[in-house]
Amino acid sequence: MIKLLTIIGARPQIIKAAAISRAIKNSFSTRIKEVIVHTGQHYDEKMSAVFFSELQIPGEDYNLKTGSGSHAVQTAEIMRLFEPILLHEKPDAVLVYGDTNSTLAGALATSKLHIPLVHVEAGMRSFNKLMPEEINRICCDHVSTFLFSPTQTGIKNLIREGFSAKTNPPYSINNPKIFACGDVMYDNSLYFSAEAKLKSKILESLSISSGQFILCTIHRDSNTDVAENLQAIFKALNNISLSANQPIVIPLHPRTAKAIAANQEDVLWQEIKNNNLIKIIEPVSFLDMIRLESECNLIITDSGGVQKESYFFKKPCVILRNETEWVELVDAGTAIIAGADSEKIIAAYQSLKTASLNFPPIFGDGKAAEFICNEILAAFN
Ligand code: UD1
Ligand code: UDP
Repeated sequence: MIKLLTIIGARPQIIKAAAISRAIKNSFSTRIKEVIVHTGQHYDEKMSAVFFSELQIPGEDYNLKTGSGSHAVQTAEIMRLFEPILLHEKPDAVLVYGDTNSTLAGALATSKLHIPLVHVEAGMRSFNKLMPEEINRICCDHVSTFLFSPTQTGIKNLIREGFSAKTNPPYSINNPKIFACGDVMYDNSLYFSAEAKLKSKILESLSISSGQFILCTIHRDSNTDVAENLQAIFKALNNISLSANQPIVIPLHPRTAKAIAANQEDVLWQEIKNNNLIKIIEPVSFLDMIRLESECNLIITDSGGVQKESYFFKKPCVILRNETEWVELVDAGTAIIAGADSEKIIAAYQSLKTASLNFPPIFGDGKAAEFICNEILAAFN
């Protein structure tokens, strides 16, 4: 039996962790004991607790209750509180997901105690170091022992940074092992989509019809913290909803809600308030989210996870960023990068709404979590 300590903190990590916890419960419970540490980076009920119950994630063993803060404060506080847990639990390996401050803090504390680090979603790069996530990813990958990349692009990025495609055991921080394994988020979308169809009543509660609405999410700091960018995005959304006579559903991240609240008196926000087609709602549960994704006609987003889910559910996607880690979507023509530029967003929408699109498989076979567990076990036997 090996002890695997999982560290999560932000919404997408809780969702990704569900896939591994499910695999452990169903197939590896006699060989892997999982201990879950929640950093408390996300703490609102709709950003955290809702996912534990809905996705059947075992309750967390520890909650660091770190909360919000500047990058340095948040990262340092997580490290400070996490280190004694590592010393007490003595895990065989620590598993981190993605690219948030919780990922970076977990990676640094773990590697400095010489505990093997497993990074799920390794190798993703935007090549824009002004993104906090890009710094987190690069640092985390370079202190990892086991790097699981969802795409071949991720593997190529790692090799470009000096990782070897061929290494032999025993693996260590100085002899890391990279794997292409598919995407645990794809595992989840396949696993939960039937349940979402049965259980989610989100379309009914919003009085919208299948195939007749657009879904949008916005939360990147480059969009929320620069007033002109947020306004340019909403100007485009206002225009698209009115010209297409299409509702746009926006489950709003708390960060974006706070940014909008700070600019309420602006004329644009009054127009948005008066536009019944713009449906701003609170963040939704995962089942509601994947029902919205599977029944909308197009997605507009700056989220990494929602970009991928647009592909899983075969929907065109307008990317509200100047670059993406998920370049395969752009190469396949199913997504267009539009940044925070009103005209580009509208043009991307116009071009995608009538395009005939193909979605060749990119993200694995829906069994990435089993693959990851098997490889971790193999490395410790
Ligand atoms: C974080 C991640 C980002 C990820 C996103 C997923 C970093 C640097 N960023 O961004 O990579 O895509 O999570 O959603 O780690 N807030 C609340 N309630 C909450 C959580 C946050 O009100 O439960 C508000 C606070 O005002 C906080 C702000 O949102 O200051 C930003 O939260 P934070 O966790 O720092 O970053 P995110 O923008 O959520
Ligand atoms: N998500 C959700 N409810 C919402 C918005 C997003 O369940 O209201 C899910 C979404 O389906 C995806 C994940 O959260 O699985 C993406 O997280 P987020 O956009 O916060 O972060 P990112 O992926 O950009 O890091």
